[in-house]
Amino acid sequence: MTQLPGLLDTEAIRKDFPLLDRTVHDGKKIVYLDSAATSQKPRQVLDALNEYYERHNANVHRGVYTIAEEATALYEGARDKVAAFINAPSRDEVIFTKNASESLNLVANMLGWADEPYRVDHETEIVTTEMEHHSNIVPWQLLSQRTGAKLKWFGITDDGRLDLSNIEEIITEKTKIVSFTLVSNIMGTINPVEKIIRRAQQVGALVCIDASQAAPHMVLDVQALQADFVAFTGHKMVGPTGIGVLWGRQELLEDLPPFLGGGEMIETVSMHSSTYAPAPHKFEAGTPPIAQAVGLGAAVDYLSAIGMEKIYRHEHAITEYAVKRLLEVPDLRIIGPATAEDRGATISFTLGDIHPHDVGQVLDEQGIAVRVGHHCARPVCLRYGIPATTRASFYLYSTPAEVDALVDGLEHVRNFFG
Ligand code: ALA
Repeated sequence: MTQLPGLLDTEAIRKDFPLLDRTVHDGKKIVYLDSAATSQKPRQVLDALNEYYERHNANVHRGVYTIAEEATALYEGARDKVAAFINAPSRDEVIFTKNASESLNLVANMLGWADEPYRVDHETEIVTTEMEHHSNIVPWQLLSQRTGAKLKWFGITDDGRLDLSNIEEIITEKTKIVSFTLVSNIMGTINPVEKIIRRAQQVGALVCIDASQAAPHMVLDVQALQADFVAFTGHKMVGPTGIGVLWGRQELLEDLPPFLGGGEMIETVSMHSSTYAPAPHKFEAGTPPIAQAVGLGAAVDYLSAIGMEKIYRHEHAITEYAVKRLLEVPDLRIIGPATAEDRGATISFTLGDIHPHDVGQVLDEQGIAVRVGHHCARPVCLRYGIPATTRASFYLYSTPAEVDALVDGLEHVRNFFG
């Protein structure tokens, strides 16, 4: 078996993930290479969800009876765990949403309804990048359409990096918000956060970071990042679906208006007007995703016990190996950085003129699960003049043998299509 420096003990880790034992297509062991879409879940998370529903299920922040207090303690305990995981200065800066898309939409809507100095209007500008997931493009397009603010973006270089050569023309005195991804969901590129934040700070713009593809894979320290908002989702970091996070700086959360109204987010309500609860509750209208938050808390415990530095090192080793092996495949073109440096464990590629959907289907017949399509990042495909890519993405349970299986699978695809 191929051994690489920095690998985790995947034999032990994989025992925690029941799904990885599954077979498909008449006994073919699944090779799961789609963790950028969603990660598999360890037994510890599944148990936490079960235990919550079997023993503590009640609504939070309402009941005075025992299990309601237990449910509240578990839900708020999950907030503490997430706050510690991202090194938030305060637990009140952690807002639970349903996913990263909702977190990003929340920021866009807060700014759209805000008073000065945060208000986005027709005299101001919004900055994003061509490398974003649609979740970090469409909310800003909607805000731009509603307010008349100009939407600007950084382009991408031929090798899959952000083109920051014109940073001073893109981020200007008019910029109110710069929102960009830390790690590209389609190309795996890790972006130079510091450089962008420094320029945003020079002009007094707020910074929002989409950390959906970063939080599962590396140390995410919101204090070190120095952004104003950070969004990510639970299901990509071994947690359940239906739970996302928006971290925001406390003074901003105090000043900015809520987006969704309803129960839980108020202080007082009359038929004429309402006052709002302090953050984070101001931004959590209605019954929250309680079990999902508890599951996310268990996911954070799981990842923390292994250690995010170690997870990053493991993925880096796998990525280095995968890039090398993939580049040996004739006609394969990596879309994005064709190196393991400054990139995460997500690799998109094309294979000659074989359509990615055909690649995905033939790989599936061999038990190999990859994502094909535009990966909700269509502007990237447009940039490279391709309709779609095949994307393999790795995680803490991925092994060099799975990289080999992918490469063998691609050989099979090539033979199949002549
Ligand atoms: N955002 C997920 C992906 O990139 C679904 O595949």
